[in-house]
Amino acid sequence: MVSKTAVSKTVDQEVRETPKDEQAYLRLVERLSKASVEKHWEPYIDIEWDDPVMKIDLSDPRWEVPAIDSLGGHPWYKAQSQEVRSGIGLYRFANAAKVGVQFENLLNRGLYTYAFKLPNGSAEFRYAYHEAIEEGHHGMMFQELVNRTGFDIPGLPAILRLTAQFVPMLGRFFPELFFFFVLGGEDPIDYVQRRMLAEDENIHPLAERIMRIHVAEEARHLSFARSYLRRRLPQIGFIRKRILRVAIPMILGQMSRIMLAPSRAMVRHFNIPSEVMDEAYRHNPRARAEVKASLAKVRNLAVELGLVDGFTKQIWKAYRIWDEPAQAAA
Ligand SMILES: [Fe+2]
Ligand SMILES: [Fe+2]
Repeated sequence: MVSKTAVSKTVDQEVRETPKDEQAYLRLVERLSKASVEKHWEPYIDIEWDDPVMKIDLSDPRWEVPAIDSLGGHPWYKAQSQEVRSGIGLYRFANAAKVGVQFENLLNRGLYTYAFKLPNGSAEFRYAYHEAIEEGHHGMMFQELVNRTGFDIPGLPAILRLTAQFVPMLGRFFPELFFFFVLGGEDPIDYVQRRMLAEDENIHPLAERIMRIHVAEEARHLSFARSYLRRRLPQIGFIRKRILRVAIPMILGQMSRIMLAPSRAMVRHFNIPSEVMDEAYRHNPRARAEVKASLAKVRNLAVELGLVDGFTKQIWKAYRIWDEPAQAAA
């Protein structure tokens, strides 16, 4: 009999400390590895997919878009039938899961590429493998959810499915950029899932279980990526820093849009009028503020590490993801 790990009602937080030297950094990495052994979940052991309470049903209002989603307050959305409102909410949730499957696939390959060159005795090797195994489980968990919705969701746009294939190479040749890419994918989703768990009183139990497992394990991944970058950045050369200054806002601008905005496939599927999309998202200050807030932690890290200057701040502003650090507390 395989025992199940309980999923706590309190959500694990990221380790906030900044290791002051190499030894403190290594101790933190070892602590994260130990936590991965003590607290982890498996999708086909810890989620009761076939339990009737987990069943997905579009007459269930718990699948409507969450409060954080500005489409929910739009008159067009409110005028739709229960099935359409729940369908849109379910599609939104499952689309984020499908993008998560694809992102975590790239992330996993990058982690293995990164770990390939690490020396014997490396604490980072063990942690990278723990993280890759957890991301493998997340990919299975998200794909199983997508399969059970009945929607054939493509996830990333075709052009990005192709161009993103270079990302795993960064794990070997430019790990600092790779771990900013990791944060660009993980931070916005973590932000949204934490908000939903904290604020939505009426979450479907399947969505809740998936999100609780995910945020608990992501807390470790985010701690590792941030600690790794804090330790590595002072050691890299001028050219690499220059590339990071330009590449980071471009990556974050693209990734937050893909992770948080509704997909074109969904808009087509539900025939959502273009003006509704404009009013709910593109021209809606509240939706823009949520995107900026979801990037606050990674943006603050870029500032802390000297990766934003007068020129590259303009790139952040062009993507409409800039906020002054003092106002953007995580
Ligand atoms: Fe994940
Ligand atoms: Fe992760």
